[in-house]
Amino acid sequence: MTTLTLPQHIAIIMDGNGRWAKKRFMPRLAGHRAGVEAARQVVKNCVKRNIKVLSLFAFSSENWRRPKQEVSHLMELFLTGLEREVSVLHENNIQLRFIGDRTRLNPALCKKILEVEMLTRPNTGMVLLIAVDYGGQWDICQAMRQLAQAVETGELKSSDITPEKIASKLSFADLPDPDLFIRTSGELRISNFMLWQLAYAELYFTDILWPDFNEKELDKALAHYANRERRYGYSSEQLICSNNV
Ligand code: IPE
Ligand code: IPE
Ligand code: MG
Repeated sequence: MTTLTLPQHIAIIMDGNGRWAKKRFMPRLAGHRAGVEAARQVVKNCVKRNIKVLSLFAFSSENWRRPKQEVSHLMELFLTGLEREVSVLHENNIQLRFIGDRTRLNPALCKKILEVEMLTRPNTGMVLLIAVDYGGQWDICQAMRQLAQAVETGELKSSDITPEKIASKLSFADLPDPDLFIRTSGELRISNFMLWQLAYAELYFTDILWPDFNEKELDKALAHYANRERRYGYSSEQLICSNNV
């Protein structure tokens, strides 16, 4: 087993937009707008570095608890952001995908999501996974529901349920799990992001607020990742031996 120096999949909790705005005596929405710009930059910089998959947590299952006005501003930002960015993403051969519970999103946003997913599906470059109304618990629950249905119809026995079977029903089962998890803004928690898929991700936390997360900050995270030894339960000595074979 070799230690990869570059992650295949980077998953980011883009946190701190509100605090960024507050520091500047600006409304929270201004922070979210600046956050969209930082997201544009990180996409560009990950493409430049040949990252295979980039996941961005844009709105969690729990973010519906925010004030109505903030939620509708965020939804509007997603829609306008998509409308504005889709052609550049497409030109860059990026495949855009959304994960999360779409039933609660407004119809205009749902329609746009389907449109951009269809348009960019043939693209062979970086996969950009946007998590909207996503929660790790929701993801595991929807996977379990699919398996339970198969048990109900007799296609599957409960004893056939294995971690691999569960993993195969999760939101992006065809893609590698995140290698590097980044959370900005100094919070040291996962906030119901990809609970299952982060099992062996290397975790990186920074105090930088999301709108300030630039190319230099990405490189810092990548440098930390390159210095980690991923052991997956093996001992360090075993890994050294297998690298020498
Ligand atoms: C992250 O920034 C964006 C979303 C959750 C949509 P926050 O809005 O959580 O910013 P803080 O945590 O209040 O600073
Ligand atoms: C997590 O950030 C969700 C997103 C970045 C979209 P939050 O700001 O909602 O997380 P908590 O509430 O501080 O845990
Ligand atoms: Mg936050």
